[in-house]
Amino acid sequence: MGFNVRPIGIIHSPFIEKDLTPIQPTCSQAEGSVEIYPDYVAGLKDLDGFSHIILLYLFHQSNGYALRVKPFLDHQERGLFAIRYPARPNPIGLSIVSTSRKGLNMV
Ligand SMILES: C[S@@+](CC[C@H](N)C(=O)[O-])C[C@H]1O[C@@H](n2cnc3c(N)ncnc32)[C@H](O)[C@@H]1O
Repeated sequence: MGFNVRPIGIIHSPFIEKDLTPIQPTCSQAEGSVEIYPDYVAGLKDLDGFSHIILLYLFHQSNGYALRVKPFLDHQERGLFAIRYPARPNPIGLSIVSTSRKGLNMV
């Protein structure tokens, strides 16, 4: 059984190519922003009191997957579901980011 995911917006960051993207947000002080589509903006009410938010997003440059892979910072092959490798059956990323009035700071 599959299910559809409905995008609610787009994350803008300085990183365009996946190979030039930090392995985790903690590795970077980069700033980005999240554009929420108009239909969902009302749902942002009361979010401004939080110092951090969790972003779930599509690894849109992922293509296929293997169940055993060598992580970026490891020499040993690992099970795909034990690591945060971006090429996975459901290529969904998770990043905790700090918020600011300007946008979002990746942490
Ligand atoms: C190890 S993953 C971790 C990302 C996230 N913090 C997580 O845990 O889900 C980060 C790596 O995914 C790759 N990546 C980043 N953006 C991507 C995209 N849009 N499509 C495919 N791969 C991407 C880059 O190689 C980056 O270094």
